[in-house]
Amino acid sequence: MSKLLLETVKKMVVAKTPIIYIESEEEERVERLIKTLAETTFSKPINAYTWTCTKGIELNGKPVDSAKTPADAINWMINLKEVAFIIMEDIQWSINEPAVIRKLKEVYKGIRDTYKTIFITAPRLTIPDDLKNNMAAVELGLPLRDELETLFLSLVKIQKNIQEAAITPALKTKIVNAVLGLTYNEADRAIKRALIGKTALDDSVVNTALEEKYNLIKKSGVLEYVINTIRIDEVGGMENLKSWLSKRANLFSKEAQDFGLSKPKGVLMTGISGCGKSLFVKAIASFWGLPLIRLDMSRVYEGTFGSAEECLRKAINSAEAIAPCILWIDEIEAGISIQGFKAEGGSATRVLGTFLTWMQEKDSFVFVAATANAIHLLPAEIMRKGRFDEIFYVTLPNKAERHQIFRIHLEKRKNNPHYFDIDLLAHSTKGFSGAEIEQIVSSAMYEAFSENREMKQHDLMTAINRTVPLSITMDEQIKEIENWAFNRAVRASEKKDD
Ligand SMILES: Nc1ncnc2c1ncn2[C@@H]1O[C@H](COP(=O)(O)OP(=O)(O)O)[C@@H](O)[C@H]1O
Ligand SMILES: [Mg+2]
Repeated sequence: MSKLLLETVKKMVVAKTPIIYIESEEEERVERLIKTLAETTFSKPINAYTWTCTKGIELNGKPVDSAKTPADAINWMINLKEVAFIIMEDIQWSINEPAVIRKLKEVYKGIRDTYKTIFITAPRLTIPDDLKNNMAAVELGLPLRDELETLFLSLVKIQKNIQEAAITPALKTKIVNAVLGLTYNEADRAIKRALIGKTALDDSVVNTALEEKYNLIKKSGVLEYVINTIRIDEVGGMENLKSWLSKRANLFSKEAQDFGLSKPKGVLMTGISGCGKSLFVKAIASFWGLPLIRLDMSRVYEGTFGSAEECLRKAINSAEAIAPCILWIDEIEAGISIQGFKAEGGSATRVLGTFLTWMQEKDSFVFVAATANAIHLLPAEIMRKGRFDEIFYVTLPNKAERHQIFRIHLEKRKNNPHYFDIDLLAHSTKGFSGAEIEQIVSSAMYEAFSENREMKQHDLMTAINRTVPLSITMDEQIKEIENWAFNRAVRASEKKDD
Protein backbone atom coordinates (compact mmCIF):
# COMPACT_ATOMS: atom_id res chain seq x y z
CA MET A 1 0.00 0.00 0.00
CA SER A 2 1.21 3.43 -0.82
CA LYS A 3 2.39 5.17 2.32
CA LEU A 4 0.79 8.42 1.28
CA LEU A 5 -2.62 6.86 0.87
CA LEU A 6 -2.26 4.88 4.05
CA GLU A 7 -1.58 8.11 5.93
CA THR A 8 -4.59 9.82 4.36
CA VAL A 9 -6.97 7.07 5.38
CA LYS A 10 -5.40 6.81 8.81
CA LYS A 11 -6.08 10.50 9.39
CA MET A 12 -9.73 9.96 8.46
CA VAL A 13 -10.02 7.09 10.93
CA VAL A 14 -8.39 9.04 13.71
CA ALA A 15 -10.76 11.93 13.00
CA LYS A 16 -13.60 9.44 13.70
CA THR A 17 -14.99 9.43 10.17
CA PRO A 18 -17.68 6.72 10.49
CA ILE A 19 -17.98 5.76 6.81
CA ILE A 20 -15.11 5.81 4.35
CA TYR A 21 -15.71 4.91 0.77
CA ILE A 22 -12.72 3.60 -1.17
CA GLU A 23 -13.04 3.63 -4.92
CA SER A 24 -11.08 0.74 -6.37
CA GLU A 25 -11.39 -2.26 -8.63
CA GLU A 26 -9.00 -4.20 -6.45
CA GLU A 27 -10.84 -5.69 -3.49
CA GLU A 28 -7.88 -7.68 -2.20
CA ARG A 29 -5.72 -4.62 -2.20
CA VAL A 30 -8.31 -2.67 -0.26
CA GLU A 31 -8.52 -5.50 2.24
CA ARG A 32 -4.76 -5.44 2.66
CA LEU A 33 -4.87 -1.69 3.23
CA ILE A 34 -7.54 -1.95 5.90
CA LYS A 35 -5.78 -4.84 7.62
CA THR A 36 -2.59 -2.79 7.80
CA LEU A 37 -4.59 0.09 9.20
CA ALA A 38 -6.22 -2.18 11.76
CA GLU A 39 -2.82 -3.33 12.90
CA THR A 40 -1.10 0.02 13.03
CA THR A 41 -3.56 2.81 13.76
CA PHE A 42 -4.03 2.30 17.49
CA SER A 43 -1.75 1.22 20.30
CA LYS A 44 -3.18 -2.29 19.99
CA PRO A 45 -4.28 -4.06 16.79
CA ILE A 46 -8.04 -4.19 16.23
CA ASN A 47 -10.21 -6.55 14.17
CA ALA A 48 -10.99 -5.88 10.51
CA TYR A 49 -14.19 -7.73 9.58
CA THR A 50 -15.45 -8.20 6.03
CA TRP A 51 -18.99 -8.39 4.79
CA THR A 52 -20.14 -9.83 1.46
CA CYS A 53 -23.69 -10.64 0.43
CA THR A 54 -22.87 -14.32 0.05
CA LYS A 55 -20.75 -15.04 3.11
CA GLY A 56 -22.04 -12.55 5.62
CA ILE A 57 -19.60 -11.25 8.20
CA GLU A 58 -16.19 -12.90 8.45
CA LEU A 59 -12.97 -12.35 10.31
CA ASN A 60 -9.80 -13.55 8.58
CA GLY A 61 -11.86 -15.87 6.39
CA LYS A 62 -13.84 -17.41 9.30
CA PRO A 63 -17.60 -16.84 9.57
CA VAL A 64 -18.75 -14.59 12.42
CA ASP A 65 -22.35 -13.69 11.60
CA SER A 66 -24.71 -14.68 8.83
CA ALA A 67 -26.07 -11.17 8.15
CA LYS A 68 -26.91 -11.27 4.45
CA THR A 69 -28.42 -7.85 3.86
CA PRO A 70 -26.43 -4.64 4.14
CA ALA A 71 -28.90 -3.36 6.72
CA ASP A 72 -28.32 -6.42 8.96
CA ALA A 73 -24.57 -6.06 8.58
CA ILE A 74 -24.70 -2.40 9.52
CA ASN A 75 -26.87 -3.19 12.53
CA TRP A 76 -24.39 -5.79 13.63
CA MET A 77 -21.65 -3.18 13.41
CA ILE A 78 -23.62 -0.57 15.35
CA ASN A 79 -24.19 -3.07 18.16
CA LEU A 80 -20.65 -4.36 18.21
CA LYS A 81 -19.02 -3.73 21.57
CA GLU A 82 -15.41 -3.45 20.39
CA VAL A 83 -13.65 -0.82 18.29
CA ALA A 84 -13.26 -2.46 14.89
CA PHE A 85 -13.28 -1.95 11.16
CA ILE A 86 -15.64 -3.57 8.70
CA ILE A 87 -15.16 -3.70 4.96
CA MET A 88 -18.40 -3.93 2.99
CA GLU A 89 -17.88 -5.18 -0.52
CA ASP A 90 -21.22 -5.59 -2.25
CA ILE A 91 -23.05 -2.54 -1.14
CA GLN A 92 -23.00 -0.80 -4.52
CA TRP A 93 -25.92 -2.96 -5.60
CA SER A 94 -28.20 -1.69 -2.88
CA ILE A 95 -26.86 1.76 -2.11
CA ASN A 96 -29.95 3.39 -3.58
CA GLU A 97 -32.47 1.45 -1.48
CA PRO A 98 -34.24 3.62 1.08
CA ALA A 99 -33.60 1.09 3.86
CA VAL A 100 -29.89 1.11 3.18
CA ILE A 101 -29.67 4.89 2.96
CA ARG A 102 -31.55 5.16 6.26
CA LYS A 103 -29.28 2.57 7.90
CA LEU A 104 -26.15 4.35 6.76
CA LYS A 105 -27.47 7.57 8.23
CA GLU A 106 -28.13 5.76 11.50
CA VAL A 107 -24.59 4.45 11.46
CA TYR A 108 -23.39 7.93 11.04
CA LYS A 109 -25.16 9.00 14.15
CA GLY A 110 -24.57 5.72 15.98
CA ILE A 111 -20.82 5.37 15.61
CA ARG A 112 -19.50 8.81 14.85
CA ASP A 113 -18.25 9.27 18.39
CA THR A 114 -16.23 6.08 18.28
CA TYR A 115 -13.31 4.87 16.22
CA LYS A 116 -15.49 2.17 14.67
CA THR A 117 -15.27 2.60 10.94
CA ILE A 118 -17.23 1.18 8.04
CA PHE A 119 -15.29 0.94 4.81
CA ILE A 120 -17.26 0.64 1.64
CA THR A 121 -15.39 -0.48 -1.42
CA ALA A 122 -16.57 -0.58 -5.01
CA PRO A 123 -15.12 0.11 -8.44
CA ARG A 124 -17.49 2.97 -8.97
CA LEU A 125 -20.10 4.03 -6.53
CA THR A 126 -22.58 6.73 -7.16
CA ILE A 127 -23.32 7.97 -3.70
CA PRO A 128 -26.91 9.14 -3.30
CA ASP A 129 -27.05 12.89 -2.63
CA ASP A 130 -28.61 12.17 0.76
CA LEU A 131 -25.48 10.42 1.91
CA LYS A 132 -22.82 12.67 0.48
CA ASN A 133 -22.32 14.58 3.73
CA ASN A 134 -22.12 11.39 5.74
CA MET A 135 -19.08 9.79 4.22
CA ALA A 136 -15.56 10.52 3.09
CA ALA A 137 -14.32 9.17 -0.22
CA VAL A 138 -10.86 8.28 -1.45
CA GLU A 139 -9.74 6.89 -4.74
CA LEU A 140 -7.25 4.09 -4.36
CA GLY A 141 -5.65 4.62 -7.76
CA LEU A 142 -2.93 2.45 -9.17
CA PRO A 143 -0.17 1.26 -6.86
CA LEU A 144 2.79 3.61 -6.48
CA ARG A 145 6.48 2.85 -6.35
CA ASP A 146 6.75 1.95 -2.67
CA GLU A 147 3.94 -0.58 -2.88
CA LEU A 148 5.36 -2.19 -5.99
CA GLU A 149 8.81 -2.33 -4.48
CA THR A 150 7.47 -4.20 -1.46
CA LEU A 151 5.63 -6.55 -3.79
CA PHE A 152 8.73 -7.19 -5.88
CA LEU A 153 10.89 -7.91 -2.83
CA SER A 154 8.30 -10.28 -1.40
CA LEU A 155 8.11 -12.18 -4.69
CA VAL A 156 11.88 -12.49 -4.94
CA LYS A 157 11.94 -13.83 -1.41
CA ILE A 158 9.72 -16.78 -2.26
CA GLN A 159 11.73 -17.50 -5.38
CA LYS A 160 14.28 -19.72 -3.68
CA ASN A 161 16.94 -19.80 -6.36
CA ILE A 162 17.50 -16.05 -6.46
CA GLN A 163 19.82 -14.48 -3.94
CA GLU A 164 18.32 -11.38 -2.41
CA ALA A 165 21.80 -9.87 -2.31
CA ALA A 166 21.80 -9.92 -6.11
CA ILE A 167 19.22 -7.14 -6.26
CA THR A 168 21.06 -3.93 -7.02
CA PRO A 169 19.23 -0.65 -6.38
CA ALA A 170 19.43 0.16 -10.11
CA LEU A 171 17.81 -3.11 -11.10
CA LYS A 172 15.14 -2.74 -8.46
CA THR A 173 14.24 0.69 -9.82
CA LYS A 174 14.12 -0.65 -13.37
CA ILE A 175 11.78 -3.49 -12.45
CA VAL A 176 9.52 -1.23 -10.43
CA ASN A 177 9.43 1.20 -13.37
CA ALA A 178 8.60 -1.68 -15.64
CA VAL A 179 5.43 -2.55 -13.74
CA LEU A 180 4.32 0.98 -12.89
CA GLY A 181 0.96 1.64 -14.46
CA LEU A 182 -0.42 -1.81 -13.71
CA THR A 183 -2.90 -2.75 -11.02
CA TYR A 184 -1.50 -4.66 -8.05
CA ASN A 185 -2.68 -8.01 -9.37
CA GLU A 186 -1.38 -7.31 -12.83
CA ALA A 187 2.00 -6.26 -11.45
CA ASP A 188 2.04 -9.39 -9.31
CA ARG A 189 1.45 -11.57 -12.36
CA ALA A 190 3.95 -9.67 -14.51
CA ILE A 191 6.72 -9.99 -11.95
CA LYS A 192 5.96 -13.66 -11.30
CA ARG A 193 6.09 -14.35 -15.02
CA ALA A 194 9.32 -12.42 -15.37
CA LEU A 195 10.89 -14.44 -12.56
CA ILE A 196 9.94 -17.87 -13.89
CA GLY A 197 12.99 -20.02 -14.41
CA LYS A 198 15.38 -17.22 -13.51
CA THR A 199 18.36 -17.91 -11.31
CA ALA A 200 19.85 -14.45 -11.61
CA LEU A 201 18.32 -11.01 -11.85
CA ASP A 202 19.24 -9.11 -14.98
CA ASP A 203 17.75 -6.99 -17.72
CA SER A 204 15.90 -9.96 -19.17
CA VAL A 205 13.63 -9.87 -16.12
CA VAL A 206 13.00 -6.20 -16.73
CA ASN A 207 12.21 -6.85 -20.38
CA THR A 208 9.74 -9.64 -19.66
CA ALA A 209 7.99 -7.45 -17.11
CA LEU A 210 7.85 -4.61 -19.64
CA GLU A 211 6.42 -6.90 -22.30
CA GLU A 212 3.71 -7.98 -19.89
CA LYS A 213 2.90 -4.38 -19.20
CA TYR A 214 2.64 -3.42 -22.84
CA ASN A 215 0.34 -6.36 -23.51
CA LEU A 216 -1.87 -5.35 -20.63
CA ILE A 217 -1.93 -1.73 -21.76
CA LYS A 218 -3.04 -2.91 -25.15
CA LYS A 219 -5.79 -5.05 -23.67
CA SER A 220 -7.13 -2.05 -21.78
CA GLY A 221 -8.32 -0.89 -25.17
CA VAL A 222 -7.46 2.71 -25.79
CA LEU A 223 -3.76 2.91 -24.97
CA GLU A 224 -1.02 1.33 -26.96
CA TYR A 225 2.70 1.22 -26.40
CA VAL A 226 4.53 2.31 -29.53
CA ILE A 227 7.79 0.61 -30.31
CA ASN A 228 9.81 3.42 -31.73
CA THR A 229 13.26 3.92 -33.16
CA ILE A 230 12.92 7.26 -34.97
CA ARG A 231 15.74 9.59 -34.04
CA ILE A 232 15.62 13.34 -34.30
CA ASP A 233 18.11 13.35 -37.21
CA GLU A 234 15.64 11.29 -39.22
CA VAL A 235 13.31 14.26 -39.36
CA GLY A 236 14.08 16.78 -42.10
CA GLY A 237 13.63 20.49 -41.44
CA MET A 238 11.46 21.77 -38.56
CA GLU A 239 14.34 23.79 -37.14
CA ASN A 240 12.19 25.76 -34.71
CA LEU A 241 10.65 22.64 -33.30
CA LYS A 242 14.07 21.02 -33.00
CA SER A 243 15.60 23.97 -31.22
CA TRP A 244 12.59 24.19 -28.89
CA LEU A 245 13.23 20.55 -28.04
CA SER A 246 17.00 20.78 -27.67
CA LYS A 247 16.60 23.59 -25.15
CA ARG A 248 14.59 21.17 -23.11
CA ALA A 249 17.01 18.27 -23.16
CA ASN A 250 17.16 17.86 -19.38
CA LEU A 251 13.65 18.84 -18.57
CA PHE A 252 12.87 15.60 -16.82
CA SER A 253 15.94 15.66 -14.59
CA LYS A 254 16.05 16.21 -10.88
CA GLU A 255 18.29 19.23 -11.50
CA ALA A 256 15.58 20.88 -13.59
CA GLN A 257 13.10 20.31 -10.78
CA ASP A 258 15.49 21.61 -8.13
CA PHE A 259 16.11 24.67 -10.28
CA GLY A 260 12.39 25.31 -10.10
CA LEU A 261 11.38 24.65 -13.70
CA SER A 262 7.74 23.78 -13.97
CA LYS A 263 6.89 20.42 -15.43
CA PRO A 264 6.31 20.54 -19.18
CA LYS A 265 2.70 20.02 -20.22
CA GLY A 266 3.04 19.20 -23.87
CA VAL A 267 2.88 20.42 -27.42
CA LEU A 268 0.13 20.53 -29.98
CA MET A 269 1.32 20.10 -33.54
CA THR A 270 -0.98 21.10 -36.26
CA GLY A 271 -0.78 21.51 -39.98
CA ILE A 272 -0.84 19.84 -43.33
CA SER A 273 -0.97 16.09 -43.33
CA GLY A 274 2.07 14.12 -44.40
CA CYS A 275 4.50 16.78 -43.21
CA GLY A 276 5.95 14.88 -40.30
CA LYS A 277 3.83 15.64 -37.24
CA SER A 278 3.49 12.04 -36.15
CA LEU A 279 7.12 11.46 -37.07
CA PHE A 280 8.21 14.29 -34.82
CA VAL A 281 6.27 12.90 -31.86
CA LYS A 282 8.29 9.72 -32.15
CA ALA A 283 11.49 11.75 -32.33
CA ILE A 284 10.50 13.59 -29.12
CA ALA A 285 10.10 10.28 -27.30
CA SER A 286 13.50 8.99 -28.34
CA PHE A 287 15.15 12.35 -27.72
CA TRP A 288 14.08 12.15 -24.10
CA GLY A 289 14.41 8.38 -23.96
CA LEU A 290 10.84 8.02 -22.67
CA PRO A 291 8.20 5.40 -23.43
CA LEU A 292 5.68 6.46 -26.04
CA ILE A 293 2.05 5.63 -25.29
CA ARG A 294 -0.56 6.31 -27.92
CA LEU A 295 -4.12 7.18 -26.97
CA ASP A 296 -6.65 6.38 -29.64
CA MET A 297 -9.30 9.05 -29.33
CA SER A 298 -11.73 7.44 -31.72
CA ARG A 299 -11.77 4.31 -29.56
CA VAL A 300 -12.44 6.42 -26.49
CA TYR A 301 -15.77 7.28 -28.09
CA GLU A 302 -16.48 3.80 -29.38
CA GLY A 303 -18.09 2.70 -26.15
CA THR A 304 -16.50 -0.76 -26.14
CA PHE A 305 -14.49 0.10 -23.06
CA GLY A 306 -17.07 1.93 -21.00
CA SER A 307 -18.27 5.49 -21.24
CA ALA A 308 -15.98 7.92 -23.05
CA GLU A 309 -15.29 9.87 -19.89
CA GLU A 310 -14.47 6.82 -17.82
CA CYS A 311 -12.29 5.53 -20.60
CA LEU A 312 -10.31 8.76 -20.83
CA ARG A 313 -9.91 8.94 -17.08
CA LYS A 314 -8.58 5.40 -16.94
CA ALA A 315 -6.15 6.13 -19.74
CA ILE A 316 -4.94 9.25 -17.94
CA ASN A 317 -4.49 7.27 -14.72
CA SER A 318 -2.43 4.63 -16.49
CA ALA A 319 -0.31 7.27 -18.23
CA GLU A 320 0.34 8.99 -14.91
CA ALA A 321 1.37 5.76 -13.31
CA ILE A 322 3.77 5.02 -16.16
CA ALA A 323 5.25 8.54 -15.97
CA PRO A 324 7.66 9.82 -17.05
CA CYS A 325 6.26 9.11 -20.49
CA ILE A 326 4.97 10.73 -23.65
CA LEU A 327 1.23 10.46 -24.13
CA TRP A 328 0.63 10.71 -27.85
CA ILE A 329 -2.82 11.78 -28.94
CA ASP A 330 -2.74 11.46 -32.69
CA GLU A 331 -5.31 13.40 -34.66
CA ILE A 332 -6.94 14.72 -31.56
CA GLU A 333 -9.69 16.31 -33.61
CA ALA A 334 -11.07 12.82 -34.27
CA GLY A 335 -12.43 12.91 -30.75
CA ILE A 336 -12.58 16.49 -29.71
CA SER A 337 -13.98 18.46 -32.60
CA ILE A 338 -16.77 20.93 -32.90
CA GLN A 339 -18.65 18.55 -35.13
CA GLY A 340 -18.08 15.79 -32.64
CA PHE A 341 -19.68 18.03 -30.07
CA LYS A 342 -22.81 18.45 -32.06
CA ALA A 343 -23.10 14.80 -32.87
CA GLU A 344 -22.23 13.46 -29.43
CA GLY A 345 -24.07 16.00 -27.37
CA GLY A 346 -22.98 16.11 -23.75
CA SER A 347 -20.47 13.29 -23.79
CA ALA A 348 -17.89 15.01 -26.00
CA THR A 349 -18.17 18.20 -23.97
CA ARG A 350 -17.54 16.29 -20.78
CA VAL A 351 -14.63 14.41 -22.28
CA LEU A 352 -13.07 17.65 -23.45
CA GLY A 353 -13.69 19.13 -20.02
CA THR A 354 -11.98 16.18 -18.32
CA PHE A 355 -9.04 16.44 -20.70
CA LEU A 356 -8.57 20.21 -20.40
CA THR A 357 -8.87 20.24 -16.61
CA TRP A 358 -6.32 17.50 -16.43
CA MET A 359 -3.95 19.38 -18.77
CA GLN A 360 -4.35 22.50 -16.70
CA GLU A 361 -3.75 20.89 -13.33
CA LYS A 362 -1.36 18.17 -14.40
CA ASP A 363 1.58 17.83 -12.08
CA SER A 364 3.01 14.59 -13.39
CA PHE A 365 5.70 13.90 -15.94
CA VAL A 366 3.23 12.94 -18.63
CA PHE A 367 4.17 14.97 -21.64
CA VAL A 368 1.25 15.24 -24.03
CA ALA A 369 2.16 15.31 -27.70
CA ALA A 370 -1.00 15.93 -29.66
CA THR A 371 -1.32 16.26 -33.39
CA ALA A 372 -4.16 17.71 -35.39
CA ASN A 373 -4.61 17.93 -39.13
CA ALA A 374 -7.77 19.97 -39.00
CA ILE A 375 -7.14 22.28 -36.11
CA HIS A 376 -9.89 24.69 -37.07
CA LEU A 377 -12.29 21.95 -35.99
CA LEU A 378 -11.03 22.16 -32.43
CA PRO A 379 -12.84 24.31 -29.90
CA ALA A 380 -10.95 27.43 -28.84
CA GLU A 381 -10.47 26.35 -25.19
CA ILE A 382 -7.88 23.84 -26.18
CA MET A 383 -5.62 26.63 -27.41
CA ARG A 384 -5.76 28.68 -24.23
CA LYS A 385 -2.51 29.29 -22.33
CA GLY A 386 -1.86 26.83 -19.55
CA ARG A 387 -2.92 23.81 -21.56
CA PHE A 388 -0.11 23.21 -24.01
CA ASP A 389 3.34 24.76 -23.64
CA GLU A 390 3.39 25.56 -27.32
CA ILE A 391 1.34 25.14 -30.46
CA PHE A 392 3.35 24.47 -33.59
CA TYR A 393 2.32 24.75 -37.14
CA VAL A 394 3.92 22.26 -39.51
CA THR A 395 3.72 23.25 -43.12
CA LEU A 396 5.02 21.99 -46.47
CA PRO A 397 8.80 21.73 -46.48
CA ASN A 398 10.82 24.48 -48.17
CA LYS A 399 13.56 23.67 -50.65
CA ALA A 400 16.32 23.20 -48.09
CA GLU A 401 14.05 20.95 -46.07
CA ARG A 402 13.08 18.88 -49.09
CA HIS A 403 16.78 18.44 -49.69
CA GLN A 404 17.20 17.03 -46.19
CA ILE A 405 14.14 14.81 -46.52
CA PHE A 406 15.39 13.31 -49.81
CA ARG A 407 18.76 12.65 -48.22
CA ILE A 408 17.20 11.00 -45.18
CA HIS A 409 15.02 8.66 -47.21
CA LEU A 410 17.74 7.81 -49.72
CA GLU A 411 20.10 6.87 -46.91
CA LYS A 412 17.44 4.94 -45.06
CA ARG A 413 17.10 2.73 -48.11
CA LYS A 414 20.83 2.18 -48.51
CA ASN A 415 21.45 4.61 -51.38
CA ASN A 416 24.56 6.78 -51.44
CA PRO A 417 23.24 10.37 -51.68
CA HIS A 418 26.42 11.44 -53.51
CA TYR A 419 25.22 9.64 -56.61
CA PHE A 420 22.17 11.85 -56.91
CA ASP A 421 21.56 15.49 -57.77
CA ILE A 422 19.54 16.19 -54.65
CA ASP A 423 19.38 19.91 -55.38
CA LEU A 424 17.52 19.18 -58.56
CA LEU A 425 15.19 16.76 -56.76
CA ALA A 426 14.41 19.37 -54.12
CA HIS A 427 13.93 22.02 -56.79
CA SER A 428 11.48 19.83 -58.71
CA THR A 429 9.28 19.01 -55.74
CA LYS A 430 7.87 22.37 -54.68
CA GLY A 431 4.56 21.77 -52.93
CA PHE A 432 5.36 18.14 -52.04
CA SER A 433 4.98 16.90 -48.48
CA GLY A 434 7.54 14.76 -46.67
CA ALA A 435 5.28 11.77 -47.08
CA GLU A 436 5.12 12.34 -50.83
CA ILE A 437 8.90 12.62 -51.04
CA GLU A 438 9.25 9.36 -49.15
CA GLN A 439 6.77 7.78 -51.55
CA ILE A 440 8.81 9.00 -54.55
CA VAL A 441 12.00 7.44 -53.23
CA SER A 442 10.27 4.19 -52.47
CA SER A 443 8.45 3.85 -55.80
CA ALA A 444 11.61 4.73 -57.75
CA MET A 445 13.36 1.94 -55.87
CA TYR A 446 10.65 -0.56 -56.83
CA GLU A 447 11.12 0.45 -60.43
CA ALA A 448 14.87 -0.13 -60.33
CA PHE A 449 14.51 -3.38 -58.40
CA SER A 450 12.03 -4.80 -60.92
CA GLU A 451 14.57 -4.14 -63.66
CA ASN A 452 17.29 -5.67 -61.57
CA ARG A 453 19.55 -2.59 -61.44
CA GLU A 454 20.60 0.20 -59.14
CA MET A 455 18.32 3.18 -58.73
CA LYS A 456 19.26 6.22 -60.84
CA GLN A 457 18.39 9.90 -60.81
CA HIS A 458 15.97 9.49 -63.67
CA ASP A 459 13.89 6.94 -61.72
CA LEU A 460 13.34 9.61 -59.10
CA MET A 461 12.58 12.29 -61.68
CA THR A 462 10.04 10.02 -63.39
CA ALA A 463 8.35 9.35 -60.06
CA ILE A 464 8.24 13.09 -59.37
CA ASN A 465 6.64 13.81 -62.71
CA ARG A 466 4.00 11.16 -62.09
CA THR A 467 2.99 12.62 -58.74
CA VAL A 468 0.34 15.25 -58.27
CA PRO A 469 0.96 16.51 -54.76
CA LEU A 470 -1.95 16.93 -52.40
CA SER A 471 -1.08 20.60 -52.09
CA ILE A 472 -2.43 21.09 -55.61
CA THR A 473 -5.66 19.18 -55.16
CA MET A 474 -6.18 20.58 -51.68
CA ASP A 475 -5.03 24.11 -52.35
CA GLU A 476 -8.11 25.70 -50.79
CA GLN A 477 -8.05 23.65 -47.60
CA ILE A 478 -4.35 24.30 -47.13
CA LYS A 479 -4.85 28.05 -47.49
CA GLU A 480 -7.60 27.86 -44.92
CA ILE A 481 -5.38 26.01 -42.45
CA GLU A 482 -2.49 28.40 -43.09
CA ASN A 483 -4.65 31.43 -42.47
CA TRP A 484 -5.94 29.93 -39.28
CA ALA A 485 -2.46 29.13 -38.02
CA PHE A 486 -0.87 32.43 -39.02
CA ASN A 487 -1.44 34.25 -35.74
CA ARG A 488 -2.15 31.35 -33.49
CA ALA A 489 0.79 29.01 -33.77
CA VAL A 490 4.58 28.99 -33.99
CA ARG A 491 5.98 27.81 -37.30
CA ALA A 492 7.83 24.52 -36.97
CA SER A 493 10.40 25.76 -39.48
CA GLU A 494 11.67 29.27 -39.92
CA LYS A 495 11.54 29.89 -43.59
CA LYS A 496 8.62 29.72 -45.93
CA ASP A 497 9.17 28.27 -49.34
CA ASP A 498 11.54 29.95 -51.73
N1 LIG B 1 10.08 16.28 -42.28
C1 LIG B 1 10.18 14.99 -42.62
N2 LIG B 1 11.37 14.35 -42.62
C2 LIG B 1 11.48 13.06 -42.95
N3 LIG B 1 10.45 12.30 -43.31
C3 LIG B 1 9.22 12.85 -43.35
C4 LIG B 1 9.02 14.23 -43.00
N4 LIG B 1 7.71 14.51 -43.10
C5 LIG B 1 7.11 13.36 -43.48
N5 LIG B 1 8.02 12.36 -43.65
C6 LIG B 1 7.73 10.96 -44.05
O1 LIG B 1 6.34 10.83 -44.26
C7 LIG B 1 5.78 9.89 -43.36
C8 LIG B 1 4.41 10.35 -42.92
O2 LIG B 1 4.50 11.54 -42.14
P1 LIG B 1 3.65 11.76 -40.83
O3 LIG B 1 4.58 12.07 -39.73
O4 LIG B 1 2.74 10.62 -40.63
O5 LIG B 1 2.82 13.04 -41.24
P2 LIG B 1 1.63 13.74 -40.46
O6 LIG B 1 1.52 13.14 -39.13
O7 LIG B 1 2.02 15.18 -40.43
O8 LIG B 1 0.42 13.51 -41.31
C9 LIG B 1 6.77 9.81 -42.23
O9 LIG B 1 6.70 8.55 -41.60
C10 LIG B 1 8.08 10.02 -42.92
O10 LIG B 1 8.58 8.82 -43.47
MG1 LIG C 1 -0.03 11.93 -38.47
